[in-house]
Amino acid sequence: METEMNLQPQPHVLLFPFPVQGHIKPMLTLAQLLCHSGIHVTFVNTEHNHLLLTQREALSARFPTLHFHSISDGLPSDHPRSLNPYFIDIVTSLRSKTGPLLHQLLVSLTSKTDVDSAADQLPPLSCVITDGLMCFAIDAADKVGIQVIAVRTSSACSVWCYLCVPKLIEEGQAPFGDEESDKMVLGVPGMEYILRRRDLPSICRAPTNHTVRQFFVEEHIAITRASGLILNTFDELESSVLSHIASKFPKIYAIGPLHALLQSRVGDDDLSSSSAAAASLRREDRRCMMWLDSQEAGSVIFVSYGSLVKLTRVQLLEFWHGLVNSGSPFLWVIRSDVLHSTEVEHANRVTPVELEMGTKERGFIVDWAPQEEVLAHEAVGGFLTHSGWNSTLQAIWAGVPMLCWPQLADQQVNSRWVGEVWKIGVDMKDTCDRATVETMIKALMHGEEREVISRAVDQYAKSARTSVGEAGSSYHNLETLISDLRTLVI
Ligand code: UDX
Repeated sequence: METEMNLQPQPHVLLFPFPVQGHIKPMLTLAQLLCHSGIHVTFVNTEHNHLLLTQREALSARFPTLHFHSISDGLPSDHPRSLNPYFIDIVTSLRSKTGPLLHQLLVSLTSKTDVDSAADQLPPLSCVITDGLMCFAIDAADKVGIQVIAVRTSSACSVWCYLCVPKLIEEGQAPFGDEESDKMVLGVPGMEYILRRRDLPSICRAPTNHTVRQFFVEEHIAITRASGLILNTFDELESSVLSHIASKFPKIYAIGPLHALLQSRVGDDDLSSSSAAAASLRREDRRCMMWLDSQEAGSVIFVSYGSLVKLTRVQLLEFWHGLVNSGSPFLWVIRSDVLHSTEVEHANRVTPVELEMGTKERGFIVDWAPQEEVLAHEAVGGFLTHSGWNSTLQAIWAGVPMLCWPQLADQQVNSRWVGEVWKIGVDMKDTCDRATVETMIKALMHGEEREVISRAVDQYAKSARTSVGEAGSSYHNLETLISDLRTLVI
């Protein structure tokens, strides 16, 4: 069967992630899943990120049909490339400069004019799988006459909200002011009586005609031109929302959690952590694993704000006081760029002595952690998270209750689902004063609700395991995606 499959001509697919960590990681996992079934993948990063992925060769050695290619993002080499506050700079440059370069690449790959020596073996390109925030790839693929499938790396519940934003604007429910934050939202079918305005994607908070909101609206209109949508979620977690989204696309493929599906398909327990490290744009500080080994089971609160969220120094200090006062041991990821650039000059101010002492006694701070392994460590009993979708799925997979402090994009929606729909954590949206942080950590780690939350998250962890197993929904949906890609072979 395997030999027969290898003799068939294999499709060649180009994967094109939005150039940030939270998008590259799940798309690189998808690339490995496709390569594992024999499909050729050309994975296109911006030149900047291409150089940061230092383990490309090891990945290509493991998956010989995985080929990396880089393309300019059109920005000067000394540009900080930080989404906050340069989001519009970045997406404007991607559309105007990278778009034409992508088109040239598609021309060369479809006509089989090789772009580099590795491409010698490649069959002509048969499909583009683009990040749904870069729909200029749909225009480029249209011009060369090949199909496009889009990927959104966030939750189905947030994608459905984004798709409904034009309607919310038309009905006057977005944008909204602070005083309207607790009004219920009625314009997102299936979410009536769940969503308050404060739970909408963060673009709904921006003033009228804000360019970032305009960008998201345009991309979520353009994305519906794709011939299918891939989501990093699983049917059992978001079935009702998935059925709403299905009305907008010819095909939907819910194939998450991707990192777990890769482990299940390849059958190698170590693959998930090596694959996570290979997709990381930053170097992991593994010393924290030894520190975790020295802690009691279920005692540690792990704190991470993902790859994009920025804090003020005041917020950082409020978290610090709250963490120390909670009495729980804590592992805290403080990225070197976590402070807003306007705050950096205050960063070296003297830290209150009680915080230094409390951290020495019970804390461990790193710049970047091997997060999937941390969440799976038996010492970790809770996760204070910004509710990025990768982090949320990783916590569900590991069965770790969450305390959510969402800041941007889809995170506001995800945290509402965690707190109100799945009931696998608590939502601390829009506040982080030290007393609240302390009280909520205590409640999450030791309060009455902990048992109920733990039971709920364990249930979802079990259904995630079922979904990536051989008879499971994500496993099956990936098979469908692969066989659909095979029908496109030129
Ligand atoms: C943001 C969004 O909020 C997210 O929902 C969207 O889909 C992508 O953009 P980000 O801030 O990067 O993403 O958060 P998240 O989606 O949680 O991704 C962060 C990734 O970095 C995760 O895979 C996490 O495991 C990894 N990480 C984070 C580490 O490996 N180490 C760390 O110390 C922190």
